[in-house]
Amino acid sequence: PENGSLSIVVLGASGDLAKKKTFPALFNLYKQGFLLENEVCIFGYARTKITDEELRNRLHGYLVKDKDASREQLEAVSKFLHLIKYVSGAYDSEDDFRLLDKEISKHESLTNTAEGSSRRLFYLALPPSVYPSVSKMIKTTCMTKSDLGGWTRIVVEKPFGKDLESAEELSNQIGELFEEPQIYRIDHYLGKELVQNMLVLRFANRMFLPLWNRDNIANVQIVFKEDFGTDGRGGYFDQYGIIRDIIQNHLLQIFCLVAMEKPISVRPEHIRDEKVKVLESVLPIKDEDIVLGQYEGYRDDPTVPDNSNTPTFASVILRVHNERWEGVPFILKAGKALESRKADIRIQFKDVPGDIFKCQKQGRNEFVIRLQPSEAMYMKLTVKQPGLEMSTVQSELDLSYRQRYNGVTIPEAYERLILDTIRGDQQHFVRRDELKASWEIFTPLLHKIDKGEFKSIPYKQGSRGPAEADKMLEKAGYVQTHGY
Ligand code: BG6
Repeated sequence: PENGSLSIVVLGASGDLAKKKTFPALFNLYKQGFLLENEVCIFGYARTKITDEELRNRLHGYLVKDKDASREQLEAVSKFLHLIKYVSGAYDSEDDFRLLDKEISKHESLTNTAEGSSRRLFYLALPPSVYPSVSKMIKTTCMTKSDLGGWTRIVVEKPFGKDLESAEELSNQIGELFEEPQIYRIDHYLGKELVQNMLVLRFANRMFLPLWNRDNIANVQIVFKEDFGTDGRGGYFDQYGIIRDIIQNHLLQIFCLVAMEKPISVRPEHIRDEKVKVLESVLPIKDEDIVLGQYEGYRDDPTVPDNSNTPTFASVILRVHNERWEGVPFILKAGKALESRKADIRIQFKDVPGDIFKCQKQGRNEFVIRLQPSEAMYMKLTVKQPGLEMSTVQSELDLSYRQRYNGVTIPEAYERLILDTIRGDQQHFVRRDELKASWEIFTPLLHKIDKGEFKSIPYKQGSRGPAEADKMLEKAGYVQTHGY
């Protein structure tokens, strides 16, 4: 059902994720008319004992960032805040969840027409340690009453476990309570515009079809950089490290979209089937295909142990064992406290055979998809240097979104994904078998790191990370292009 009452419950309503991402995304959806006042009620749920009004006041600052916000904006915020109610309770108390259920039912009885249904969305903006108890409470007390029709869905955030074993345990616990179509595992990178563009780019352009393989592509880099450190999240981060925080989920999802075979249709299950297949084709990671780093000053955070070896930087080469990709290294690189904030996919093509212009030393063809900031796609090409001389130069064919789609607002990842959860579209969510396959790739390496078998190399804040990573990249066959 697409209409009737809609109850969105944000569990962990006073936490960082809820305030910074979930509520602002809900506000944007409301502003664009996707959440209707006569249907929706948003419930914040957390342990803190505060009133509706206090929660609204706390959220206000996250929704109005601009001091000079217009009157319309302020009015919209105030109307939106009035759709929010707060219920305080423990994450393992049946009584407290019954209270929540009562509040939801009250809202449903006020909004539902005879043919209306009740849609209940539970967003777990919580640490995974409480997922099992919260899911159990939802299942026992808060499911949509079947005589009303409708649905109950839960949204969970990473980290989904710490390794294969813990992830499977979590999946089993949740899987006993909910069916796969009710579970939405968010990876917010799947909500980014240029990540969603990947399949269109690959499979709707004749130009790319014959080029996208080992005959033409020399190497692929998927890079995430941040120019700030763990910023007060050290305690959390130290338990996980950069591979679990970024590479095993965000970068690996992008890898799937770059490397997978063409799905038989755009149906979510067909797409996800192909993602699983390519994940299962990844060979075990070799020791020489790994460089780890830790930025100097990381351990100054009082919540980080003085002898922590947790990587804040990692570069890992994945090798795919299939007909399309054998021999092509996929370099997944992520780091905190580096020289810039940027995420991109960089596909480098092989040298031109029989290079009559002797121009290969200027650089190879590259196709770059910049996810952020300033979404863009550009191709590095060799052209004749304009002028009287017959010489060559590297140039770019550039599709910069800001210029080309001036005036089009690119939605926030969370906004798009929450809308999908309401619509029941699971394409941009991680399926259980995908999750398992992704942990299978990284678990042996993570266990070695946890045992201290790999040392994180120190690097300066604001640098490119350890020099060893660039050396590994060169060894993998990446040729630095000059002039861009
Ligand atoms: C989160 C990580 O998943 O992604 C953070 O936990 C990271 O460490 C963030 O900062 C980056 O997201 P974005 O959308 O700002 O690139």
